[in-house]
Amino acid sequence: MTQILVLHNSLNPSASASRAMTEAYLQRVRASEPDVRIIEHDLAARPLPHLPPEILPSLFGQVPQPGPEAEVAARSDALIGELEQSDVIVIGAPLYNFTIPSTLKAWLDHVIRGGRTFSYTEAGPQGLLPPGKRVLVFTASGGVYSEGPGAALDHLVPYLKSVLGLIGLSDIQVVRAEGMKLPDGPARREAAIADAAALAD
Ligand SMILES: Cc1cc2nc3c(=O)[nH]c(=O)nc-3n(C[C@H](O)[C@H](O)[C@H](O)COP(=O)(O)O)c2cc1C
Repeated sequence: MTQILVLHNSLNPSASASRAMTEAYLQRVRASEPDVRIIEHDLAARPLPHLPPEILPSLFGQVPQPGPEAEVAARSDALIGELEQSDVIVIGAPLYNFTIPSTLKAWLDHVIRGGRTFSYTEAGPQGLLPPGKRVLVFTASGGVYSEGPGAALDHLVPYLKSVLGLIGLSDIQVVRAEGMKLPDGPARREAAIADAAALAD
């Protein structure tokens, strides 16, 4: 059975382009694979906390002490477990101030752990997640960042590719609903939703 992990990050619960893309994709997946297992986290509605000091030992491969260290490590372990067991990771990623929402950064901070999801080798860092996972990034922005003058300000797609690559996620497809604040924003939005749904085929 396929397992899909979904991370919503839009602050907008009703008119979000990234949420609409995610929903269109999931609807089509459910239609073709009714017993698909979908785990959804709305990180905008229920954000994870920033990393607390007690997480430090776990981040560098040490065994956490019982108490607060073990508790924060357990939360991180649970999130990593979901990631390890998922075949597809869907990330709804609105562009906020030229980069990812801080809610998504908090999730990344919890799942990127030395000795657990990546390690340093003589050849450089190596991802430790099981291979074969697919990542779908559904991003939305008011302006255009895939080309033109905005491209130099895109700190979302290049960043996500780097940071996900660190833990071994390199099969990453991106659908952009960009130019949402432009006059042709509604048409761009519909095209992006169709592109997102098509990834389920
Ligand atoms: C806090 C905040 C910061 C934003 N920063 C940018 C930005 O840097 N560049 C941009 O083009 N749009 C920016 N926008 C607009 C959003 O990217 C745009 O509304 C997008 O559609 C949001 O995704 P969503 O529709 O999934 O909620 C920002 C919106 C918010 C709420």
